[in-house]
Amino acid sequence: MLGFMMAIVVGSGIVNAIHPPSNVEPIDPTTLHLGGEFAESNLGAIREADGSLTVRMVADQYAFVPDCVEIAADTPIKFRLTSIDVVHGFLLPATNVNTMVVPGFVAEVRTRFERPGVYRMPCNEFCGPGHHGMWARVNVVPKEQFGASTPARRTACAQQ
Ligand code: CUA
Repeated sequence: MLGFMMAIVVGSGIVNAIHPPSNVEPIDPTTLHLGGEFAESNLGAIREADGSLTVRMVADQYAFVPDCVEIAADTPIKFRLTSIDVVHGFLLPATNVNTMVVPGFVAEVRTRFERPGVYRMPCNEFCGPGHHGMWARVNVVPKEQFGASTPARRTACAQQ
């Protein structure tokens, strides 16, 4: 891990980049599946008491789990991601969301989608031979429609 951080400093010259706010929360990548925040039953979009949505995803070689999440437009969204193996990237084109997903840490990013639509999310960090096929999608639906969708649909939206 240290070696990895040093490489960033040398490569970019931007000292702040070594402590991105999204990567300060440690988590044990070897026990993710055993329970806690990133257990399978907690993945996908969950409505918080304040009406916002929290989306939890796990990155691995070579997929995001879940590979599609359904969320509501015009709603505060918080993505929380972690990796079980190597460094992946999480990029949502046309938004402010672009973060590295580093094993051992939770990456957290906040955004909001004003309009419904389908956003394809490429893995944005080379992570091995399957990198170019590592995609996930976010389906942004109108608020009213999201309220009616089932928890299963929020984590396994139909491919389009
Ligand atoms: Cu995962 Cu590139």
